[in-house]
Amino acid sequence: MKFIEPPDETVPVPRAVETDQFRVDVLRGLRRPAKELPCKYFYDETGSRLFEQICELEEYYLTRTELTIMRKHASEMAELLGPDCLLVEYGSGSSVKTRLLLDRLKRVAAYVPLDVSREHLLRSAGRLAARYPNLEVLPLWADFTGAFRLPVPSRRPARRVVYFPGSTLGNFDAQAATLLLAGVARLCGPGGAMLLGIDLKKDVRILELAYNDAKGVTAAFNLNLLTRINRELGANFDVAAFRHRAPYNRVLGCIEMHLVSLRPQQVRLADEVFSFAEGEFILSERSFKYDLDEFRAWAPRAGLRVERAWVDGRNYFAVVYLTVP
Ligand code: AVJ
Repeated sequence: MKFIEPPDETVPVPRAVETDQFRVDVLRGLRRPAKELPCKYFYDETGSRLFEQICELEEYYLTRTELTIMRKHASEMAELLGPDCLLVEYGSGSSVKTRLLLDRLKRVAAYVPLDVSREHLLRSAGRLAARYPNLEVLPLWADFTGAFRLPVPSRRPARRVVYFPGSTLGNFDAQAATLLLAGVARLCGPGGAMLLGIDLKKDVRILELAYNDAKGVTAAFNLNLLTRINRELGANFDVAAFRHRAPYNRVLGCIEMHLVSLRPQQVRLADEVFSFAEGEFILSERSFKYDLDEFRAWAPRAGLRVERAWVDGRNYFAVVYLTVP
């Protein structure tokens, strides 16, 4: 397995640069009249572990449902993607779903998992490379919302394909999602394709239960963001003075994760003091839900065309096959 970014600590910058960016983003979010924090910072060690626990929850149907769709239709998907493709995965997850594709794809030119977390990327890429000794695995340490250059595989691919599972697209509002998908279209080029997992609109009670589980795992996941800010940025959030809440916003069509202040309080971070009224909240995540017909009509704005969509029996989740005309 060949690494694209320096595999050791010979480059001294990353940690510090990451922390600077984290601080800048947190300060910017807390200074706003309606306080917010970027959801990408959920995933430190603890956050990633809690997210894995969320995926196992009875109420959190997303992961299980997407996996069911993949198990049932992976052969057809592989057939559509065709032989010799360069498979690029955005946010290399636990790779269970990826394996379903890799097991069925004909002569994959190379597999490029892309992730912002270096440790996570190297661990999962290493596991995959060990399992597929004949597959060229080219992990790319990068943020898929930013600019990056694809590694050149030793074999020339027939086409480029981006796999973006998990409904992570849901974390982006319409404008950001359009930009992201337009980036995919540009990356893949004409003839390229995308396989995308999206969570569908459904009964609000089911949606809200998925983000307000009985065991409180999602609450711990949400509150961990404050713990992380305390630890890494030296803030003094009283985590016990905030509570988790995740209502569905019918106007925007998304679940919102809130961190609600239980009393009037002040929090200090990097020489700045932030005041909270009782009941005031920080918006920590939006998770958009889609209507398949609306999505189909909207995809061309990003330069993509929906060719095929697979849903589960309850119409909870969809895996969509898009092409670049
Ligand atoms: C990883 C963005 C798909 O929105 O359902 C789970 C994150 N947040 N529970 C989602 C999440 C709260 C998840 N995504």
